[in-house]
Amino acid sequence: MKNFILFLCLLAPSAAYCQQQATEQWRPYFHFSPAQNWTNDPNGLVYHEGEWHIFYQHNPFENKWGHMSWGHAVSKDLVNWEHLPVAIPEDSAWIFSGGVVVDKNNTSGFGANSMIAIYTADYHGKKENQQLAYSTDKGRTWTKYKNNPIIAKPLPNGKEMKDFRDPNMFWHEPSKQWIMVVALPTEFKVHIYGSKNLINWTFLSEFGKQGDFTKIWECPSLIELPVEGSQTSKWVLFISSSNPNPDFVGMQYFVGNFDGKTFTNDNPADTKLFVDYGKDFYAAIPFSNAPKKTILGWMASWQYTDALPTFPWKGQMSIPREISLKKTQAGLRLIQRPAEEVLKAKNWKGIVQMEEMGIEEDNSMMWRNQTSSYMIDVEFELGGAREVGVKVMKNLTTNQETLVGYQKDSEQLYINRINSGKIISPNFASMDASPLKLERGTVRLLIFVDQSSIEVFGNDGEAVVTSLIFPENNSANWQLFSRDGRVKVTKLKVWEWQKD
Ligand code: FRU
Repeated sequence: MKNFILFLCLLAPSAAYCQQQATEQWRPYFHFSPAQNWTNDPNGLVYHEGEWHIFYQHNPFENKWGHMSWGHAVSKDLVNWEHLPVAIPEDSAWIFSGGVVVDKNNTSGFGANSMIAIYTADYHGKKENQQLAYSTDKGRTWTKYKNNPIIAKPLPNGKEMKDFRDPNMFWHEPSKQWIMVVALPTEFKVHIYGSKNLINWTFLSEFGKQGDFTKIWECPSLIELPVEGSQTSKWVLFISSSNPNPDFVGMQYFVGNFDGKTFTNDNPADTKLFVDYGKDFYAAIPFSNAPKKTILGWMASWQYTDALPTFPWKGQMSIPREISLKKTQAGLRLIQRPAEEVLKAKNWKGIVQMEEMGIEEDNSMMWRNQTSSYMIDVEFELGGAREVGVKVMKNLTTNQETLVGYQKDSEQLYINRINSGKIISPNFASMDASPLKLERGTVRLLIFVDQSSIEVFGNDGEAVVTSLIFPENNSANWQLFSRDGRVKVTKLKVWEWQKD
């Protein structure tokens, strides 16, 4: 890695760049991060001929937002990523977020099985329109369409709309057409378009001003999801917008119907449904053309991205999540589970497997792994205890630790990163919690710790919290805990990630 940094120094944009220390202690093992420089949103997620593709918002030159282009990586297993050259570089416009589809039947005329990217060209804040690029060699090289833009919104004053971005497309079999959703961020709206050839698009309908509109709407996607335990399915519209904490950005979703033209929300307009209750999950979109309904998001928050302390890269993606819907007393709710590929990755080495043990307060044994990238699957029977959980990244020298737990009284699953390490901005230290009702007094936490991030899935994907952490000294120690009572741990399994 040292040689790599030296090499970067030769190409460095400034002397200050070289003086920075590499922060490989925060480089994730099983989450995607660019080899160097900035990333934000995942773009054009697509599965094609045995490869999962991540394109991503990328600055190829600096470790901060700017020169927006599409970076590119591929994977056969969703955990080990091969970095490829920049796929779509900036031109007179920045290449903002968008989607990729595989045009199996050559509806566009660019070639059977060509990959079609539609992205927002942002003219440095002055106007935004939708443009197309295609690849006929499995995404290795891209050609920008000569008659771009393919969709623009002219205004009465002769200019073009400034905030009109983040197209996402899919093939809608019942109406035999491509559908695109695209955001009008400052109007809190999504526009839906249809097309037979991915080039000529017709405006079909608009949806908006429902749910949460305390923050601008970005990165929409529309997907049909199965309802677990039934033969039915429903449509889900994802929007990146506000967080359950209105001072931050986050993601919301709407459940309803799509008839090939219009999306209708099943819930009252003021129902707010959030995807993730942490502060670090944004801009997630589904993989198109994929064998499973899978989303992946950017793990960071616009509220403190400038302060991210990593070098020579900034930004990382969540683990891919398989999604579905489940009937609950409150109505249909999103279920998110770690993609099976992640759970089955050959890099996991099982290190603990126990059943039926009791723990009380903080007296339980402290465990020490070899690495700070691990997965803990633990199930507690709460009994009389008011709180249970796991302290992860527990460092005995600095006394830093992050708590991942469940509070019975407030019925909440949480990550508490107040004492997790470096506080990168005044609003970073926080406890972030998701509602989670227990059915039989047991709570299952599936926790992923990966050097500088934690994702916890509560009770088989009913609630998810995602948080970045920057421990001053990484630690492989962890410990179960309970408060105000003895609890039974019915199952405990731990694996650590071993690098290839
Ligand atoms: C969301 C976003 C998108 C835009 C991109 C620019 O995080 O603001 O709306 O396309 O990032 O990098």
